[in-house]
Amino acid sequence: MGAVDQAFIQAQEHRPTKSSSTYAEGIPLIDLSSPDGLVSEIGNACKNWGFFQVVNHGVPLEKRQKLEDSSRKFFGLSLEEKRKIRRTEKQVLGYYDTEHTKNVRDWKEVFDFVAKDHNLVPASPDPHDKELLELHNVWPQYPPELKEASEEYVKELEKLAFKLMELIALSLGLPANRFHSFFRDQTTFVRLNHYPPCPAPDLALGVGRHKDGGALTILFQDDVGGLQVKRKSDGEWVTVKPTPDAYIVNVGDIIQVWSNEAYESVEHRVMVNSEKERYSIPYFFNPAHYTMVEPLEELTNEQSPPKYKTYNWGKFMSNRKLSNFKKLKVENIQIAHLRISTTNMDVCEEYAGEVEKLAYKMLELISLSLGLSGDRLHSCFKDQISFLRVNRYPACPFPELALGVGRHKDGGALTVLAQDEVGGLEVRRKSD
Ligand code: OGA
Ligand code: NI
Repeated sequence: MGAVDQAFIQAQEHRPTKSSSTYAEGIPLIDLSSPDGLVSEIGNACKNWGFFQVVNHGVPLEKRQKLEDSSRKFFGLSLEEKRKIRRTEKQVLGYYDTEHTKNVRDWKEVFDFVAKDHNLVPASPDPHDKELLELHNVWPQYPPELKEASEEYVKELEKLAFKLMELIALSLGLPANRFHSFFRDQTTFVRLNHYPPCPAPDLALGVGRHKDGGALTILFQDDVGGLQVKRKSDGEWVTVKPTPDAYIVNVGDIIQVWSNEAYESVEHRVMVNSEKERYSIPYFFNPAHYTMVEPLEELTNEQSPPKYKTYNWGKFMSNRKLSNFKKLKVENIQIAHLRISTTNMDVCEEYAGEVEKLAYKMLELISLSLGLSGDRLHSCFKDQISFLRVNRYPACPFPELALGVGRHKDGGALTVLAQDEVGGLEVRRKSD
């Protein structure tokens, strides 16, 4: 990867800081083999952290080690060799070393494969484009065991993923199998990550801050460490301490929407270091591409209405993929864009609609008073550029010298003003 190119440099406020490199206390460590209180442990971990580690998870150690070993062998190949199975806009799986997160390049190289070969996904993010694409895994010639190791691994991880989804369902008061049908034609994929040593670990990141867009992520990390989570309680970046043979589980955006925000996906990032390389393997458990993601009916009612608009998972995913592949000029899609707001925007639009009715009424009266027909001026406002302003005048220590707004006339057609009970608006009387 050579010297540190400008493309890797994080903006000041997103660079890792010294204080954030200490290990986090309190990230829940959950033993999946002890049934007592397991459901509420999972529920609390999802609610308070969005991240937790699991042990006694049932995935045989050898299966993980076999994939980890193959991953190390693959990334040990020359760049030329690895690029033979390079990801392109059409062939979206395989090797890739120029991924961007939020338009900054990540200090890593990856190998992606899907859990179900021949997976269907939308061909483009365009909502009108109904074309589908069949995904095919591509395997390198070396090491030859990578394909088998991968296929065996996803079988084990799928069992764990369903088990976790059952526990999450129960913790939300839903039947254990509530989520199962979403994953019938799942778009789950696995990524082998390799983070080489980096000469500027204070400027670059292995993966920039992000939330996982899918349902659930189950991550294996080696003993080097570097994964950081933005702690919900105080917004501090804390490092997840590597625990031998544990998996790190995190809630993705889809669970946030399904649960109507009972559980939130949490921001995380990966620090790199100047001496050691690091390997990790996230398993992204994702539903079928045609899934329309929305808050579950059982978890919403009149008191807690749905907080998100319904969206299509396949289109969301293909938008994300494209923006990680290509540097786009626009911000990539986030579920925050799909949140139903009951704040400023709605309030302003609703109010503006009401004032507009009053404004037309005044226009009519003015027209009539001038001997014109009531609707004489209506057409002038067909493509109106009316605007609404909310003013706040703070208390002022020298009101005899300053004004809230200096003397002026309004340049437009008509102003409709609401003022509070304090008063202060002055008008120069025409008569004198
Ligand atoms: C990811 C991710 C963490 C890691 O790939 O989405 O967050 O430790 N990876 O590699
Ligand atoms: Ni992630």
